[in-house]
Amino acid sequence: MDKELLMGIDIGTQGTKILVVDTNGHTVAVGSYSYDFYVPKAGWAEQDPLQWWHAVQKSLKQIWDKGIKPDQIRGIGVSGQMHSLVLLDENKEELGNAILWNDVRTHKECTEIEQIVGKSSVLGITRNAVLPGFTAPKLLWVRKHEPERFARIRHVMLPKDYIVFKLSGVFSCDVSDASGTALLDTKKRMWSREMVEALGIPLAWLPEVHESQTIVGNVSQHAATVTELAVGTEIVAGAGDNAAAALGNGIYEEGSGIVSVGTSGTVFAPLKQLPIVHDDEQLATLHQFCHCLPDTWHAMGVTLSAGMSLNWFKHTFSEESYDAFLAGIDDIPAGAGGLYYLPYLNGERTPHNDPDARGVFFGIHYQHTRDHFTRAVLEGVSYSLRDCYELIKRCNVSINDLYVTGGASKSPAWRQILTDVLGRGLTFFDGREGPAFGASLLAGLGTGVWENAKAFPAFFDTGNETAMIHENAKQYDTGYHMYKKIYDHVKPLFHS
Ligand code: XUL
Repeated sequence: MDKELLMGIDIGTQGTKILVVDTNGHTVAVGSYSYDFYVPKAGWAEQDPLQWWHAVQKSLKQIWDKGIKPDQIRGIGVSGQMHSLVLLDENKEELGNAILWNDVRTHKECTEIEQIVGKSSVLGITRNAVLPGFTAPKLLWVRKHEPERFARIRHVMLPKDYIVFKLSGVFSCDVSDASGTALLDTKKRMWSREMVEALGIPLAWLPEVHESQTIVGNVSQHAATVTELAVGTEIVAGAGDNAAAALGNGIYEEGSGIVSVGTSGTVFAPLKQLPIVHDDEQLATLHQFCHCLPDTWHAMGVTLSAGMSLNWFKHTFSEESYDAFLAGIDDIPAGAGGLYYLPYLNGERTPHNDPDARGVFFGIHYQHTRDHFTRAVLEGVSYSLRDCYELIKRCNVSINDLYVTGGASKSPAWRQILTDVLGRGLTFFDGREGPAFGASLLAGLGTGVWENAKAFPAFFDTGNETAMIHENAKQYDTGYHMYKKIYDHVKPLFHS
């Protein structure tokens, strides 16, 4: 049988999605499995890595049930939530829960890393400030607070790399995901000996780091038995979810950009080269990471609770479907009747780097209904994405075409709010599954379906445009300044 299909596996924070696509970029089967993350304390977030592996097996079962034959799969690409710390012991067994990207317990360790290595050296090597979501401070936190667990560590990895290990027995990482560990020399696209040695982390614990499309392993006999995948199927290194989502929407050249709303929200702009200058604390919250194609990088701002704000709000106050829950917000005018929401449920990364920040509703009055609150949540998340977008603009990175993907691209109401808050038209692809699609494209590049991204078929030609409503955009400009003022005023209270 011809191996004419590609598989993309995305290990998200609220679920795993597996996509099978043909070499024209058409989706032929989807499998998915949802889960939650565990919040043992305010500001913390954890997940059991075995839950991801279980979700992969469940999702694959759906793919086989749809008639796809394992022998048809030419290659597998994996993407996943970035930064989250997965630990294995000497028997290659999971060492407790993974500490996730949206866990902000490591503020002190971030400062310690900058003191040990020197702030300017950290910036020079990794091109990023050390932020609580990143991986290295989590390792230092485990060393300080859980010395017994630390003593048993033999392997350190990221979520998608854990799945590559479960599928193939190989330890690998790719440059885009490795960029978020605070251990990568982002310009040279290799682990930084200086960072690793200064922090006392054995280099042997880290997997080999590759370009995203490199074939790193094959499905093992054991994994084939558990998953029904064909033994020997080639697996590429894959990418962090944001880089993969960008690639999956055709965003890999400077001049374009993409807003992505998953559990987190990101604004992402490819860069031909590094660096952009971090001349203040807020700019230092803008990430500069490797993109998932050779010799490309990207700038990115990250708000921690984007889709997660809506998820939290809906599940806390309603059991309706999302469609029913969002149905009323079109009747609420832009500005939600003066109601504001700050989406800082687990602290915030860009632009505040404030682990102590928390969510706020401001300006509540008697005329407000539940729909006002829902609209305020979507507007607040959109303002936080505007914060990210404004920082990218401040670095003179020009974005001629801006795309949107994830939750906000699927709801016309949310898409319109985001368009108006950002003050410019947004392009989106109907039914496009961002990170898993990008991961399947990497599998196609690695297994020789396409020589490079220029050889992709025309699946990036058919985007749809949401146009800005000028009157709303004007109102949101004023609203954005109010949103910023509210944080400035309540900030001292978060820290008191
Ligand atoms: C990126 C980040 C999040 C996660 C979500 O820096 O922390 O977008 O990748 O999965």
